[in-house]
Amino acid sequence: MTQTRCKDPVTLNLWHPLAAIVEIPAGRVAETVLLEERLCYAVDEQGNAAAWRARPGLRHGDSVDIASLEDTLPVKTAYGYVWTSLGTPPAELFPIPEFAEPDRRRLNAASIGVNVSAPRAIENFLDMGHFPYVHTDILGAEPHTEVKEYDVEISVERDEILATRCRFFQPMASTVSTGGADVDYVYRVPHPFCSVLYKSSPADESRRDVIAVFLQPLDQEHVRAHMMLCVLDEENEDKVIKRFQQTIFGQDKPILENQFPKRLPLDPRAETPIRADKSAIAYRRWLSQKGVTYGVIPAAT
Ligand SMILES: [Fe+2]
Repeated sequence: MTQTRCKDPVTLNLWHPLAAIVEIPAGRVAETVLLEERLCYAVDEQGNAAAWRARPGLRHGDSVDIASLEDTLPVKTAYGYVWTSLGTPPAELFPIPEFAEPDRRRLNAASIGVNVSAPRAIENFLDMGHFPYVHTDILGAEPHTEVKEYDVEISVERDEILATRCRFFQPMASTVSTGGADVDYVYRVPHPFCSVLYKSSPADESRRDVIAVFLQPLDQEHVRAHMMLCVLDEENEDKVIKRFQQTIFGQDKPILENQFPKRLPLDPRAETPIRADKSAIAYRRWLSQKGVTYGVIPAAT
């Protein structure tokens, strides 16, 4: 059995994203880091993927026939990304049924390195309270600063957190917005380091845009954040849709990097919660219940 630097079996057994498939040159080795280990990955012209621990003789940019590789890691392609695991991952990744709807734009908005733990980044993604102050005149604006009452549940059946009935006034909810509107949000956290957000679509009020953040933990205090978009927008070029999300993430990045401590404390008494933090409290409790110890400060037992 290979020694791993990460000693958290829950985290080792998860699927982790490595890169957006469209950004990987086919047939070439690419290098990255996952859980403090150097990994390589590649895709071929047919879309098959492979991932393996970095080894001598096969470096970034080298051409590779992935069918000939031995000693590879589990691999999966899903939602436009290559995923791997350093342990024994479940057969299936969490579902995002909307990804299969043919009229949606499916894009990697960006893969951005951030000096923060994965759980801190998830918690920020769940937090609506910062919208008017951090994403001023885009996702929020004064005086509309109140986080209204919403519902949170930990679904045992689906093993995920679900926050519903979230509403927030947004001056410019998406690239197809024509003005300010009350926007409905649903948040899912179906994976300790991934969250999926559904927000009402300005283009079709019966449907929702899907925006997900898939975090690749480089180590306990650094991630690459892969931002997946699956949106209804027939007007704008890819680069416009991506830039909108990159602008928002660029506003979050310094906030995330100033979090202290960088790891997320799971002890319920560690940080004073405010009412808006209901989803954060559920998330922390869920991580504790699952026994996640990577990127967190576990509660004293
Ligand atoms: Fe934000």
